[in-house]
Amino acid sequence: MIKLYSYNHSAKTLSKYSGSTISASLRNKISKSEFTEELKSRDEYIRHFLNLDRNKLDAVSVLIDFINVNDIKSIVSLGSGSGLLEFLLCQLNDNLTVTALDFDSALIQAATSYFSPNSVSTLKYLELDMRDFDSIDAIIANADLIVSFGALYIYDDVEYQSLLSVLNNNNVRYIVDFHAGCLSSLGMIKTQIKNSLPVIINGHKLGIHHGFGRTDNQIRRIYKQSNYNIIQSAALTSYRKYYVLERNIIV
Ligand SMILES: C[S@@+](CC[C@H](N)C(=O)[O-])C[C@H]1O[C@@H](n2cnc3c(N)ncnc32)[C@H](O)[C@@H]1O
Repeated sequence: MIKLYSYNHSAKTLSKYSGSTISASLRNKISKSEFTEELKSRDEYIRHFLNLDRNKLDAVSVLIDFINVNDIKSIVSLGSGSGLLEFLLCQLNDNLTVTALDFDSALIQAATSYFSPNSVSTLKYLELDMRDFDSIDAIIANADLIVSFGALYIYDDVEYQSLLSVLNNNNVRYIVDFHAGCLSSLGMIKTQIKNSLPVIINGHKLGIHHGFGRTDNQIRRIYKQSNYNIIQSAALTSYRKYYVLERNIIV
């Protein structure tokens, strides 16, 4: 596994935080300055994120097919960001209950007010740290499926196993991991060089540390150490790889 840094931020953000690891307060500051203060209405919010994330509609399509075929009723989404993809899932299947969580309070507040304005909604957004495994444990009871659109790469190998054992202990049957950190071997080498001999981009040496890069084999090794089997995996335009996992049922 290798650290991944992102330059995908404003020059002002990079000048202040280049080289830092993303945290809840930093994420929140970035969202406030780069998104939520600019996007004043629900339509603007949807348009902005649809435009930014239009590639990810292929992932929503894979997931909705899986949900319909397997009669999934309850989902928890880890690292939901804008919350738009979870909103679309609920629009596509009105029998679904979705709980989406992220540690970015600005985006959680915006998603709640635009997509889940009333308390009886079957779509809920929660401000929660994905590394707080006790809180995850408390909210995943009865979930049929855990999905992450591009956020599980924040975990190092030990944290990944902690998540998998919490899910296993709660009998969560399916996991769908649209993995944002999957790299080819060449990608790993290039990232290694970039990290150790950082080039100056936009006047800054390193971007902000968001997560970890791994090869497909390294990701599979993590899942092999858990009580989950990969039952489907393929490449998408949005993500180099996604993995669908099913819990081993010991009889
Ligand atoms: C690559 S983005 C994906 C966002 C969204 N799922 C999407 O596809 O548009 C990763 C998300 O994980 C969230 N995140 C990172 N670390 C987190 C943590 N420790 N706890 C909760 N959310 C976290 C970030 O705030 C961000 O929204």
